[in-house]
Amino acid sequence: MVTNEGTLIDVKKIVEDKKLNLKSRVNSLKRKGIVPKIAVILANDLEASRIYIKKKRQMCSELGVEEVEYMLDEDTTTDKVLEIIQRLNDDNNVHGILVQLPVFKHLDERKILESISPKKDIDGFHPLNIGKLVMGNNCVTACTPKGIMSIIKNTGIKIESKTAVVVGRSIIVGKPISQLLLNANATVITCHSKTKNLKKYTKMADILVVAAGVPHLITKDMVKKGALVIDVGINRIDGKVVGDVDTNEVLKVAKFVTPVPGGVGITTVVSLLENLIEIVENIDN
Ligand code: GUN
Repeated sequence: MVTNEGTLIDVKKIVEDKKLNLKSRVNSLKRKGIVPKIAVILANDLEASRIYIKKKRQMCSELGVEEVEYMLDEDTTTDKVLEIIQRLNDDNNVHGILVQLPVFKHLDERKILESISPKKDIDGFHPLNIGKLVMGNNCVTACTPKGIMSIIKNTGIKIESKTAVVVGRSIIVGKPISQLLLNANATVITCHSKTKNLKKYTKMADILVVAAGVPHLITKDMVKKGALVIDVGINRIDGKVVGDVDTNEVLKVAKFVTPVPGGVGITTVVSLLENLIEIVENIDN
């Protein structure tokens, strides 16, 4: 009989610890008369984005952070979004701006992301922040990759000199996490939808990050014994949420696997709040 070798990582515990830390930092800012405030812009009609924004709203309220939302409908133009962002850039009471991705197809996503002041870019998607990330300079880090780095750190596994394989190359996850792992001295391979023989690469991974959006893409035979597997996928099948990794099977060979649901997804919102509080703490008064 093959028993599980691996451990399902307790991501909830990591998130709870982070929330406690953030709560005390928000309170000390408030004692100085500063109330952190975030602005969220939604310009799409996706159910998943609405759920995500609701979670942000709940966490802001739990931590005592102010939040303002702009829910835009399909008639919205790029100019209208740019006008809202300009106002928010100029408002000293707003410390962080987030445009939920994707935006409606007719909107110019690149122009919109570039219009956010890099100082208020709590998603780390502005080209200036991405440039800093590539140069290895201190910068705001995209929320999901930031959460992934916390999870890896929490396992105690050293990143330096390890082979890290990332499946996915989106600007939200794949590219920034590849860069963060490289900055931490891993040897990084980034795979994507055009990669031939995916298994050849995933089998090499000491650290495997999967953000492909394909349910159960990663099976047991694709994973190296003793690997750390981070599952970023959130896929709905017959009303059930499953990841990109066949968790139960992969646990038979991997050392650590993140669960879905209740895994990487729940770190994303807390990372956003961490980015916001870091920005507010570093404002020159
Ligand atoms: N859509 C999916 N994930 C994210 C995220 O982390 N930030 C933004 N802005 N949009 C997203």
